[in-house]
Amino acid sequence: MALKITVIGTGYLGATHAAAMAELGFEVLGLDVVPEKIEMLKRGEVPMYEPGLEELLRKHVAGIEGSSGRLRFTMDWAEVGEFGDVHFVCVNTPQKHGEYACDMSYVDAAFESLAPHLHGPALVVGKSTVPVGSADRLAARLAELAPAGEDAELAWNPEFLREGFAVNDTLHPDRIVVGVRSERAEKLLREVYATPVTAGSPFVLTDFPTAELVKTSANSFLATKISFINAMAEVCEAADGDVVKLAEAIGHDERIGKKFLRAGIGFGGGCLPKDIRAFMARAGELGADQALTFLREIDSINMRQRGQMVELAREALGGGSFLGKRVAVLGAAFKPDSDDVRDSPALNVAGQIHLQGGQVTVYDPKGMANARRLFPTLAYADSATEAVRGADVVLHLTEWREFRELDPAVLGEAVTTRLILDGRNALDPEVWRRAGWTYRAMGRPTA
Ligand code: UGA
Repeated sequence: MALKITVIGTGYLGATHAAAMAELGFEVLGLDVVPEKIEMLKRGEVPMYEPGLEELLRKHVAGIEGSSGRLRFTMDWAEVGEFGDVHFVCVNTPQKHGEYACDMSYVDAAFESLAPHLHGPALVVGKSTVPVGSADRLAARLAELAPAGEDAELAWNPEFLREGFAVNDTLHPDRIVVGVRSERAEKLLREVYATPVTAGSPFVLTDFPTAELVKTSANSFLATKISFINAMAEVCEAADGDVVKLAEAIGHDERIGKKFLRAGIGFGGGCLPKDIRAFMARAGELGADQALTFLREIDSINMRQRGQMVELAREALGGGSFLGKRVAVLGAAFKPDSDDVRDSPALNVAGQIHLQGGQVTVYDPKGMANARRLFPTLAYADSATEAVRGADVVLHLTEWREFRELDPAVLGEAVTTRLILDGRNALDPEVWRRAGWTYRAMGRPTA
């Protein structure tokens, strides 16, 4: 009989994982503690913008015409405990207030709520990004709380999906990492992931601490690549070099690779910034803090980019104050194809200029509602053309395709001054310059 799967927590990770498990042919029950989320999901609606996710949900959510009916949602822990052979824990682990460490309260609460309902054999699989050592602790807690005792087992299976590509990354992962303590756990997870493994996804078997560390080290490596290229942009800026050419040239070396070498205002979002901080905090607890002091530098290079963008804008406007200057900001999401504005470099820059007296107008294709909620005092426009109307300078801060396809000649008619600062090195300087614009980007020659 096909395995029955539950997914606890229905954010980016959980909602996508639940829909993907249904797509792979399993019966799935998703749980969340937020009633509004569950109501939306039951209607086949997704609480965030993620390309392809709503379609996949609607294909499987029970009660929707033409769906497979394999995917249901509930708020009832007993039902979840009763239903599942395998339970995936997908709740988030945000940064703690005023600390680098991550907040484990949602993960802990999920285990405390689920375990008492595990009366028979069950595999609980942690997917949340956690400090190394958590799985060990949670396995003990599970054995203690579950009526099934040792039959309720834990495995750790970190997730590597990117926002904007969540569906594809989940259905076709570039690797599946599982930390297990028994053959039974391995066998169950091989069954869950049989389809992607047959299609070629490598299945990497590890112990608990390695599985937890794979996730935090992967995100640290990605953050390091971005801050590395941003450091090179600073040097290029000082030496009159071109960081885009430099990235292209070093990227031809397969050992270095082309990806994640786009210089600009740096990384944000709900993962990279908090993950490197939580990793440093955990290493400190383990007495290995020296090993990760370089991440402090990665973090500060990254945060510096935002300030440098503000200074580039000030300089471009004549070097004085922002008072009375009209600044158009294209982009609010932390990256394109997402409506997520958590720790968004674009909004951070917009906010800084606004707080220094600039009249900032923001436009983003999908992130407007979230941006308004976070920064209600900024002005918002309904289109790029509206945002730039009368602008003294235009800042391109999130590289949506829509912005790359803008016609500089048309936009030029709307602005006061044809001055564009590309915070993502994603526009073609030649195209803009030909249309009479002054184009500037960090780490690139001025003309
Ligand atoms: C990241 C990882 O890429 C995923 O593998 C991981 O699963 C996820 O975190 C997570 O831990 O859940 P995500 O936060 O969706 O995924 O975003 P990324 O695509 O990694 O981009 C992060 C930030 O880096 C964005 O602000 C982006 O604009 C910036 N970035 C990316 C650059 O500034 N330059 C680049 O070359 C690439």
